[in-house]
Amino acid sequence: MAASISDIRLLLKVKKLPRCAEPRRVFITGGTGYLGSSLIPVLLERGHHVRGLVRPTSKGNLPGGCEVVTGEALDARTYQHFVRPSDTMIHLVGVAHPSPSKAAEFRSVDFVSAREAVKAAAATAVPHFIYLSVAHPAPVMKAYTSVRAECETMIRKQGLNATILRPWYVLGPGHKWPYALLPVYKVAEVLPFIRQGAIRLGLVTLEQMVMALVQAVESPVQGLKVVDVPAIRAAQDSLAREVTLQSA
Ligand SMILES: NC(=O)c1ccc[n+]([C@@H]2O[C@H](COP(=O)([O-])OP(=O)(O)OC[C@H]3O[C@@H](n4cnc5c(N)ncnc54)[C@H](OP(=O)(O)O)[C@@H]3O)[C@@H](O)[C@H]2O)c1
Repeated sequence: MAASISDIRLLLKVKKLPRCAEPRRVFITGGTGYLGSSLIPVLLERGHHVRGLVRPTSKGNLPGGCEVVTGEALDARTYQHFVRPSDTMIHLVGVAHPSPSKAAEFRSVDFVSAREAVKAAAATAVPHFIYLSVAHPAPVMKAYTSVRAECETMIRKQGLNATILRPWYVLGPGHKWPYALLPVYKVAEVLPFIRQGAIRLGLVTLEQMVMALVQAVESPVQGLKVVDVPAIRAAQDSLAREVTLQSA
């Protein structure tokens, strides 16, 4: 898979950071998608080991340098034996191009794959689970956001040590149309009665999202941590600060 200009720019930026003091072993589902295929090269560049789960039809679609295992994300029994010795599990599986017409698929893919991932994480006692959720509450995409809220509840009930990231829309190559909404966001962010919603449902860039995921990998939590849009935007700076301190 050819890297985009923005992936190359991000990798060059990451190369300038001090190496991570404690490389992790990462097990990732959904690594062939828009976010996963930008995230994996950055994790590898940071010195982490990455093992990616793919369904048999997507074999060959993971970025190079990543260990590939095959299984069905919708059935933990087909892959949970691959999770260890990873210390970090990232779950990115979801229906492509979410829209209100895909309510049934949010249940059959997003919900089921998350339920199975939580099962696999619990059965293998993986030390840190990272879940890419979605910002909520929101006035639109109710079926999508309510499935994600249910998945977050499952994680909480299972008692996993978990980081939950809640972006709304990630801007990047091929995902640009919401740039047209930026002036609307600017106005909404200064109107007191909608300001909080505008901030919660703000847009983030692919680079910000990838760096927030990298920071989550490198800062495992005890208990549960929720990373909202402002924290996703700030992750790049805090990651740079943390690794500089670690390597000082
Ligand atoms: N991108 C955004 O703006 C955004 C915002 C908020 C939340 N999210 C969430 O973040 C996650 C990753 O987003 P993304 O944009 O990278 O998604 P994406 O490009 O659509 O990738 C989805 C991933 O899920 C896998 N997948 C889909 N259906 C599957 C199935 N039935 N069985 C096994 N694997 C399946 C795909 O594998 P194949 O390659 O095999 O199809 C792919 O690896 C998703 O859960 C998404 O809902 C994304």
